[in-house]
Amino acid sequence: TKSLKLGVAGLGTVGTSLIELLATHRDRLANLGSTVDVVAVSARSKDKHRAIAETAGVTWFDDPIALARDPAIDVFVELIGGEDGVAKEAVEAALNAGKHVVTANKALLAKHGVALAQLAEEKGVALNFEAAVAGGIPVIKTLRESLAANSVRRVYGILNGTCNYILSTMTDEKRSFGDALKEAQDLGYAEADPTFDIGGFDTAHKLAILASLAFGTEINFDEIDVEGIQSITDADIEAAEDMGYCIKLLGVATQTDSGIEMRVNPAMVPEESAIAEVWGATNGVAIDSDFCGSLLLVGPGAGGKATASSVAGDIVDIARGIILPPLMRKAASLTPCVRSKLGSH
Ligand code: HSE
Repeated sequence: TKSLKLGVAGLGTVGTSLIELLATHRDRLANLGSTVDVVAVSARSKDKHRAIAETAGVTWFDDPIALARDPAIDVFVELIGGEDGVAKEAVEAALNAGKHVVTANKALLAKHGVALAQLAEEKGVALNFEAAVAGGIPVIKTLRESLAANSVRRVYGILNGTCNYILSTMTDEKRSFGDALKEAQDLGYAEADPTFDIGGFDTAHKLAILASLAFGTEINFDEIDVEGIQSITDADIEAAEDMGYCIKLLGVATQTDSGIEMRVNPAMVPEESAIAEVWGATNGVAIDSDFCGSLLLVGPGAGGKATASSVAGDIVDIARGIILPPLMRKAASLTPCVRSKLGSH
């Protein structure tokens, strides 16, 4: 059997689950045609990850950029996070060295996705990012592959597990905002800085990525109107319930005559609607397209195991020799993203 050699940078919630998945499904992966071997790792603290750092055949790197360039690896798995700094430098170093990249980093892609996609295209390597949007839900594959021959009119949904968990437990169990956030953090759903979750920015990062795939436009994070859930109170939730609604943080991207309208805000949705039933850390992504009609994908939107499942699926694609262009068009021919006049305030 062939062997695909991975370098994994970042051993937090997702990285740890990925290592577990690769061990659990070692034989299954080999039966798909290639063993998948972690040969290099890096993380913030070597002490915390002594076991993996001292595993035979695994090289520890203090510097993820050096790991990204390691001639021993075929695929660089970036699970560091953050839109700039070391994650960006390491991904660029890996692509420049002709390595395939698998990343879960939505902030990085929302800001630098087009430039990175262009670099991957030039080098003829994969840049896979299923795990960057909606955790375990295969929404990138749905847009990039299954719906590739459709014209998408709208993509929207619940894209942040932490916010949906907070709003759900405030509604069901009458928990305070603070307690619910603490639980979401303990369960491994929240970002390192939870302001990204509750401020709506994480949803906006994901929406920007989805919109660029759905509409073949540039990714323009700065054009999104963002409002988070930080000011939602118990009274708001009760008032919505009294009227037969519940509050959800939605990201919505719509193709209009005057451009693509993108916004993130808490919205009241009717209790009996399908999107209202998306509960807890679950995400729900709706896609309206011309030939397929309305699609709603529901599943685990956050958490180590589900997100690692998406990372692993991306790795399997590479093992099978499936190298898709990262975007729906050549990066050089993307339509500029124009903000609708209607959407601005
Ligand atoms: N913090 C994110 C969330 C993790 O809560 O949805 C998944 O991207």
